[in-house]
Amino acid sequence: MSEFEPKIVAYCCNFCAFAAADLAGAMRIQYAPNVRIILLPCTGKVDALLLMKAFEDGADGVFVAGCMEGECHFVEGNIRAKKRVAYVKRLLEEIGTNPQRVEMFNLSSAMGGRFAEIVEEMTERIKELGPVEADGEKGPVDK
Ligand code: FES
Repeated sequence: MSEFEPKIVAYCCNFCAFAAADLAGAMRIQYAPNVRIILLPCTGKVDALLLMKAFEDGADGVFVAGCMEGECHFVEGNIRAKKRVAYVKRLLEEIGTNPQRVEMFNLSSAMGGRFAEIVEEMTERIKELGPVEADGEKGPVDK
């Protein structure tokens, strides 16, 4: 039987995480190929609907990667994103889906290595959790 390969969606800010992903590529840093990057002008653009839609469309895990706190080009977009991710964690829990499937990260454009680590971290986490469809079969979720 083949190993479960999770589908992960990453909503990345243009000014930091997307640039960091680009840098990781330029530095030829290897990371798991499970992530699909979606470019945003700022993580303040994400809302609960967008995050939940990614799961509905087949993602097993979703993460949002924005600028370091205090460095958002739109002042507090990343703070809003953090609150929305926390809200989606609660929504997932309410519907019997493990809230660890969604996460928020902050990084700078110079952190290509950190971007690769985040992808590896999320890939390993979601591999341990298994496919998102299996969550309802496991009973109550761990926080
Ligand atoms: Fe990067 Fe707002 S501009 S998170």
